[in-house]
Amino acid sequence: MPSLSFATADVALMSEHDIDVVLEIERRGNPHPWTREHFENALRSGYLCFVAREGAEISGFAIVRILVDDAELLLIAVSPDRRRSGCATLLLNEVLLRLRELGKSPLHLEVRASNLPAIRFYEAREFLACGRRKNYYPNGVLGNEREDAVLMQRAINV
Ligand SMILES: CC(C)(COP(=O)(O)OP(=O)(O)OC[C@H]1O[C@@H](n2cnc3c(N)ncnc32)[C@H](O)[C@@H]1OP(=O)(O)O)[C@@H](O)C(=O)NCCC(=O)NCCS
Repeated sequence: MPSLSFATADVALMSEHDIDVVLEIERRGNPHPWTREHFENALRSGYLCFVAREGAEISGFAIVRILVDDAELLLIAVSPDRRRSGCATLLLNEVLLRLRELGKSPLHLEVRASNLPAIRFYEAREFLACGRRKNYYPNGVLGNEREDAVLMQRAINV
């Protein structure tokens, strides 16, 4: 289990005012980061957009697109200095709670095959690998060659 250092954190809905900080976290964690326009569109489109706060400080965020029956975890990221302290778990728990209320299942996602920290995180949170898209990402993190996406999903008890 993660340490209790996030016991004082809470999860809130993201607002336009949070985008500057969210962009900074996104740029530090994603080799092909979303732009401001992507985040503004996500907020406008009614995606589930959450931030984790410790006091006034934002430590991480998650974005989920709600589909007809199911949902897609589009982004989850934590500030590098706050990783391994339960922040993503806190965000994911809030996502799961909302999806349960909305009756949406499963929650699925795509993750770079080289992103072992994220894959370990999802595995530890009961996601199962359910497929692979060959050469899905335009640029691998190790060079210019394309990179596979691992598809994962987790059922939500509705
Ligand atoms: C993946 C990510 C969101 C995890 O956030 P986090 O706040 O560190 O995760 P938590 O502290 O809630 O959970 C940690 C658990 O996930 C797994 N985990 C996370 N990072 C890991 C790593 N580097 N190596 C192995 N396991 C890891 C472990 O099970 C860990 O539990 P433990 O600390 O008790 O061993 C974070 O590493 C991140 O922001 N990465 C960059 C963005 C990204 O890749 N997002 C996913 C895109 S699909």
